[in-house]
Amino acid sequence: MATTANKTLKERRILIVDDELAIRRALKERFTEEGSRPDTAEDAQTARTRLRTDDYDLMLLDHRLPDGTGLALLEELSSQERRPEVVMMTAYASTQDAVRAMKLGAADYVMKPFDLDEMVLAAERALDHRELRGEVSRLRAQNRAAFTVDQLVGSSRQMAELRTLIPRIAGSGARTILVTGESGTGKDLVARAIHFASPEADKPFLNITCTALQETLLESELFGHERGAFTDAKTAKIGLFEQANGGTIFLDEIGDMSLGLQAKLLRFLESKQFRRVGGLKDITVDVRIIAATNKNLERAIQDGAFRSDLYYRLNVIPVEISPLRERPEDVVDLVRFFERRYAEELKKSIGGFDGDALELLRRHPWPGNVRELKNVVERAVLLSSGPSLTIADLPVSVRGGAGATHKPGRLLELPTAGLVVDDVVRDLLDQALERTQGNKSHAARLLGIHRDQVRYWVHKYGLDRWIRTRDGKGDSAEDSPVETAERDPD
Ligand SMILES: Nc1ncnc2c1ncn2[C@@H]1O[C@H](COP(=O)(O)OP(=O)(O)OP(=O)(O)O)[C@@H](O)[C@H]1O
Ligand SMILES: [Mg+2]
Repeated sequence: MATTANKTLKERRILIVDDELAIRRALKERFTEEGSRPDTAEDAQTARTRLRTDDYDLMLLDHRLPDGTGLALLEELSSQERRPEVVMMTAYASTQDAVRAMKLGAADYVMKPFDLDEMVLAAERALDHRELRGEVSRLRAQNRAAFTVDQLVGSSRQMAELRTLIPRIAGSGARTILVTGESGTGKDLVARAIHFASPEADKPFLNITCTALQETLLESELFGHERGAFTDAKTAKIGLFEQANGGTIFLDEIGDMSLGLQAKLLRFLESKQFRRVGGLKDITVDVRIIAATNKNLERAIQDGAFRSDLYYRLNVIPVEISPLRERPEDVVDLVRFFERRYAEELKKSIGGFDGDALELLRRHPWPGNVRELKNVVERAVLLSSGPSLTIADLPVSVRGGAGATHKPGRLLELPTAGLVVDDVVRDLLDQALERTQGNKSHAARLLGIHRDQVRYWVHKYGLDRWIRTRDGKGDSAEDSPVETAERDPD
């Protein structure tokens, strides 16, 4: 074997994932000889656990596993920032799988049966690749730092302020930041922007949603645990706080954290120290904590669900994001932004929403905020066939009554011979005035139109007998004030 093997492989942590004992043994033995520190896993589940607990440089991954495919595992890993290089091994030659593995970030692909020298070479190449990748991701982090703030789209004053505030917060060395806002307003985006605008941009940004896990699991995710801390804890595990050392932890939905864990978090914020579950020694790390919530924490405090001391500690630097309906200027900016983005992504050349559609978009209250808007635009771009996007490309939730009606069944049956719409309108108006004894306000309400429209139609259709009857305006005896809300003529 070339002597360089030892240099590249020495002390490297390697995870060998294969269901065949003979292969695991042979590889483990050989890589130990090369000076590496290999571990083995016989299925995907074991591999996952090991990957969570330990930091591997390289994984030799079999394609067919008893509980899934290597590709699936590779795919799970591909979104993670800290992951080993992967060399796939397979007995089933399929170029398609090979291509897919490479796309998912595998460094190499080795056919079984292989000889061990071949595997060692592949491992060396993969580890060289890892060095390069580290370089690339450092560069990428620098780039990210340069542009993330601009990803916050919107010309409202608030967005402009956020774009200047974020780099200042990021550079201030602040260790705790609280981001609040309704669901979909961009809390995630802001948290990432803070991290990537900070000098620690090339350090980990790890996030966890406090709602997703039970208290004990969440605690061990955050702080890690010692071997034997609980029944399932067969090995010690490093928690997010240790993994993120030097970087940022984003605690999403902090309002859902249990009181017990809140106390532990508070202790950490005050001392920078914590203990692994089942551990006796204090561990010190330096991480920036960005907490987010869409709950009203002050109310949670009153309800006894949130510690006020933790709240004051977190709230030193509050970042509040308003709901989209309170910054309507941003709607059109965001629509334009996502239009371009999805048109590009879906390779469609479209001119964007027309005026009527834009007007509807502007008036929509956006209960799901930017996330809802983004989905609406994506859907429209996806579905559209024409050069521009129209009301018809909007979902009913936005379109409301505009455009086609979506009532099940028909309001009126169109006679086979057809009809003249003006005749229908004239007749309905006449009936309405008859029923309200000529009171135009009341008739207008029956027809769901404005009083001025009634007056106009009375003239237009020559309904002379109603010309001089009451307008209803100021008719307080009949026009009860609680009912005066008239629908807009459109
Ligand atoms: N100002 C903005 N400019 C561009 N994109 C935005 C903006 N605000 C939000 N987004 C996008 O909208 C989507 C929802 O935002 P995000 O996930 O940050 O919301 P959130 O506040 O974390 O919501 P939740 O409380 O549901 O977790 C994301 O795709 C995000 O990139
Ligand atoms: Mg979020």
